[in-house]
Amino acid sequence: MIVLSRPATDFAALLKKTGSREPAAHGLYFYPRGRDALLAGLHALGVPPGETVVVPAYICDSTIAPLRGAGYRVLFVDVEPNFELDLAKVLAAVEQGGARAVLAVHYFGFPAGVARLVSALRPRGVRVIEDCCHSFLTRSGGQPVGLAGDAAIFSMRKTLPVPDGGALRLNTASVGAAALAAGRAGAPPVARYLATRCAEAAVAAVGWPNIYAGAVDAAKRRVRGARPAHAPEPQPVAQPVPQAPSALLARYLANADYLRQIGERVAHNYARLVEGAAACGLQPCVPQLAPGCVPQWAPLCDDSGRLVPWLREHGVGAARWPWHELPSEVDAAPQRYPVSHDLNRRLALLPVHQSIGSRHIVRMLALVRQGMAAQ
Ligand SMILES: Cc1ncc(COP(=O)(O)O)c(C=O)c1O
Repeated sequence: MIVLSRPATDFAALLKKTGSREPAAHGLYFYPRGRDALLAGLHALGVPPGETVVVPAYICDSTIAPLRGAGYRVLFVDVEPNFELDLAKVLAAVEQGGARAVLAVHYFGFPAGVARLVSALRPRGVRVIEDCCHSFLTRSGGQPVGLAGDAAIFSMRKTLPVPDGGALRLNTASVGAAALAAGRAGAPPVARYLATRCAEAAVAAVGWPNIYAGAVDAAKRRVRGARPAHAPEPQPVAQPVPQAPSALLARYLANADYLRQIGERVAHNYARLVEGAAACGLQPCVPQLAPGCVPQWAPLCDDSGRLVPWLREHGVGAARWPWHELPSEVDAAPQRYPVSHDLNRRLALLPVHQSIGSRHIVRMLALVRQGMAAQ
């Protein structure tokens, strides 16, 4: 059996007669990816290329490289062990770099406290963008995440089986909002995406070949190119244009029942997996989900760092994050960014998405047990 790392296309949800659009999707400008929404958001908030942006060091390079390519200077701040940014460290970085914006990430679907950051930075004219790329369906205090800062960005393809779903919400009056509303490209095509996902579902059902095997991972990395020893030259990036959501995304977003069921299913999977893993001696980072939390993964503390390779070798789409995508400067400076390094090394992320069923959880826990016993 192959346990996929991402949810499968849900044809029943797509075919269902739909009603009103999910409240969390109101007031959004759509883009291909979250990184495009980030660039558009900075622009709309009056933070043009050339300015400095403070970002957590625990981040993937695919988010940072386009920022640099567009001409922004990036200043890293280490995260705290609770996945949040320390206000004093952020203020020091803002002061030091003359930063005009801060990116605050809600990691893996768990809401981070950003209110203190926003109240300290707003009077200084520094914008806060909430990165909700892992957290599209998460609610905190009854509200969708991403309402506290000046803007929020999303990457719905991490929560829903869609090829697109980058999105931007502006929470404050913004200089560039009118320009965003003015033009919109058409919806991206979905045929190729659907074909790939059907092929992936067939592989998962047959259980062969193992798309998560080490040899496959290594081949993928070779195709993407080896990581350079130093920060790569930024590749020029154009200002992104909003687009219509794909036909798949539009259908899912109009199906509030499907989206609600995702939250319920994921919470159920999370509780089962975390309980079973704890019984094997693996501590979950977040033992109990807060109401409204829809995690992207179940993060478990694996000091050996061996669990993820073991699970992948046995067909489970577990992951570390950002793994090989830690930005080069952060990767090269473990003393400066110890927590980001620690999280990157120790966290084993197990899939809990809506397509994970009971048999997948039983399989994952059996492998976890075997893997722990072998250590
Ligand atoms: C925390 C975070 N922010 C932003 C992004 C960018 O999202 P996308 O891949 O849709 O561009 C990612 C991508 O992995 C991410 O993990």
